[in-house]
Amino acid sequence: MKKFVCMMLTAALCLSLFGGVALASGTVDIGIVLPTKDEPRWLQDQARFESVIADTPYTVEVLFSQGSSAVERTNIETLISKGIKVLIICAHDADAAGLSVELAKEAGITVISYDRLITNTEAVDYYVTFDSVSVGEAMGKYLADNVKEKAQSLYLYAGAASDNNAFLFFEGAWNILQPLIADGTFVIRNSSEAVALQAEPKLTREQLSKIIGQVTTEWDFNVAKSKAEAHLTAATKDEKGLCFVLAPNDGTARSIGDVFAADADVNGYYITGQDAEIASVQYIIDGKQSMTVFKDTRTLAQDAMDMAIALIKGEEAKTDVTYNNGAKEVPSKQTAVTVVTKDNVKDVLIDSGYYASSQFTGL
Ligand code: BGC
Repeated sequence: MKKFVCMMLTAALCLSLFGGVALASGTVDIGIVLPTKDEPRWLQDQARFESVIADTPYTVEVLFSQGSSAVERTNIETLISKGIKVLIICAHDADAAGLSVELAKEAGITVISYDRLITNTEAVDYYVTFDSVSVGEAMGKYLADNVKEKAQSLYLYAGAASDNNAFLFFEGAWNILQPLIADGTFVIRNSSEAVALQAEPKLTREQLSKIIGQVTTEWDFNVAKSKAEAHLTAATKDEKGLCFVLAPNDGTARSIGDVFAADADVNGYYITGQDAEIASVQYIIDGKQSMTVFKDTRTLAQDAMDMAIALIKGEEAKTDVTYNNGAKEVPSKQTAVTVVTKDNVKDVLIDSGYYASSQFTGL
């Protein structure tokens, strides 16, 4: 009996949290699901969506999945019950999201994968993304442009294996770094899997998985920090000195960079990043992060909303490329990226109105 009362109470609680939406059927046109509020990158997207939404006659609701595929599914169910016609979703986990978007498809909703491609399902209609291979290439090129001598120490880090982008970023970086690893310019110090594959100019998905499995940050600052600490503890003095560090995004770049900065045997380091997060822009101004790849979320949010609105109006979506998600070729709209260093930070991020100079010191 006690168990039954407990179950009823839990059900009542769930209804009070999520059940209200059933009454609101047909009230939202476009649903947007973003992966987490805990990373500045997705707050940038939220802010950009909000300014685009302000200019449309359509109703839009943005929900966050807080790094959980279960919350993501609930969010999708909530939006389905509100009658959305288009779902724009940046998935927490590329494969796990497949089942959830299939629910949306069954309800007749058009699914747009946003920034991260949902994999191994037919239920993705479109993909709106930055050119993620070129993000990795820009990182690799930055390190390559700054290496002056042979036998320089290279430390490799990657994103979460559950995010298809982590593969694209690493593939891009490998395209540029591998020839320089093969000719002895760079020496990989922290991945036996990458060393074992260093003669391969192109890596298969399985080969990439092996390396990413070893050097993943899981997109988590703490994981990034403890991996970097472990790598530097294991490295000899000769394997430190001037270091070249492939960090997969800004949050992890700051954690990894702080670890390198604190090691007495590291004389200097070049470190990559992406997203132009405010904290990393400040790190770049202060000389603590070398570069970031700026992905203009104004463009991405606008493209996704334009696509959603075109589809609601029965018009054709504008696409320029296709991405294979393991189940189909997904028609996609792709946006280019810009490398930001200390030299152009003002031009690209302040003068374009993306940030205000008052958000930084020492500009
Ligand atoms: C995004 C990056 C972001 C990372 C971690 C990737 O899918 O493309 O911009 O830094 O996820 O959230």
